[in-house]
Amino acid sequence: VDADGTRVFDLRMQAGQSEFTPGTRTATWGFNRSYLGPTLRATEGEKVRVRVANTLPEESSVHWHGMHLPAAMDGGPHQVVPAGGSWAPEWTVAQPAATLWYHPHPHGATEAHVQRGLAGLFLLDDARSAALPLPRSYGVDDIPAIVQDVRLDGAEFDHGHQLMRNVGFLGERTMVNGTLDPYVSVGDELVRLRLLNASTARVYTFGLDDGRPLQQIASDGGLLEAPYATGRLRLSPGERAEVVVRMQPGERRVLRSYPLDAGLDFWNQRFGGGDDSFDVLQLRAQPTLRPSAPLPPALAASRLPTGEDSVRERSFDLRMSGINGRKMDMSRVDETVTRGTTETWTLRNEDGMPHNFHVHDVQFRVLDIDSAAPPPSLRGPKDTVFVPPGSTVRIALRFEGPADPGTPYMYHCHLLYHEDRGMMGQFVVA
Ligand code: C2O
Ligand code: CU
Ligand code: CU
Repeated sequence: VDADGTRVFDLRMQAGQSEFTPGTRTATWGFNRSYLGPTLRATEGEKVRVRVANTLPEESSVHWHGMHLPAAMDGGPHQVVPAGGSWAPEWTVAQPAATLWYHPHPHGATEAHVQRGLAGLFLLDDARSAALPLPRSYGVDDIPAIVQDVRLDGAEFDHGHQLMRNVGFLGERTMVNGTLDPYVSVGDELVRLRLLNASTARVYTFGLDDGRPLQQIASDGGLLEAPYATGRLRLSPGERAEVVVRMQPGERRVLRSYPLDAGLDFWNQRFGGGDDSFDVLQLRAQPTLRPSAPLPPALAASRLPTGEDSVRERSFDLRMSGINGRKMDMSRVDETVTRGTTETWTLRNEDGMPHNFHVHDVQFRVLDIDSAAPPPSLRGPKDTVFVPPGSTVRIALRFEGPADPGTPYMYHCHLLYHEDRGMMGQFVVA
């Protein structure tokens, strides 16, 4: 924290070497280290400044995924940091406690930069949620879990796209926080997992190996109104969820990812990774566990727009070939929204393959999926939503501003291969 109370972070984008399996070294990128980056943390109302230094051999950027901030601080493709350059965005945190993340966003190269290791968590806190009896000791009973799928070719990462895999890159095994075959030792009855799907294309369906429910407490942008017990939790690329697991003394449980049940046709199921399953993270309970307070029945009042005061409807036809028939153009503003208004956006996937939809700057409400109310998992704050093939998802978004008609924010499919190929558009708040 500097003299005027600003919380200052330093992030250095650097090339390095990682040892994922003993004795073999892989060339990777990271923030302040060789792979991934430090967890940043700030509180609602706090002013933050991040001093980004790019020591990589090429230009990149750092985007604050899920953060409400001025467009010029967003770190999208218009805020690239040249090789050897630096950038110091600052903003005031104006949103509730949440598990956000940061990653590069250079147009056309996002998939490659994220895959090399550039990603980290950005946790937000607020006074109200800090008073709730939730597990909150970072690394003890509050565990970050950055989930990625990888393919290793001997010592090296293999990032090649396989034939017929038009969803993008799919790995053969998963890592958590850059570790293969990960486990965490648990010493409390309740353990909170902050799950981030940081994979570039893979959709996970998380669940525990014994069928015990996960108690979901938060979605992308913060707490749900109440805990939701679910056997399966689907996260597409870029999405987050916080879940609480009740452990028994001495047991070993495995958080797994199960085959995808999303109505994909045979081809996309088979070649889009839908049939795959993984052991993602083992939870090893100690022989005696510290008692945890029971989960509170109510978590947070929703601050999401209801859509009743929506002033404008827009629709987005999602195809790998582009959104609404157009590929991303850095010099074209696709949509202009008015500061302080709510809009309703309709997202349609008639493409047969999985897509999702991410909007910068806002947390939105999922109004309905194929005209039905969304499951409780999707009723909390969202910035990224999976749009299954053949489905229509409606969302309500409120644009608080500030207005900056000259600087666009992005909306895009967060399957990064699709994004890089042009499945992205730009909007400004005017
Ligand atoms: Cu997580 Cu536009 O990105
Ligand atoms: Cu984003
Ligand atoms: Cu897509």
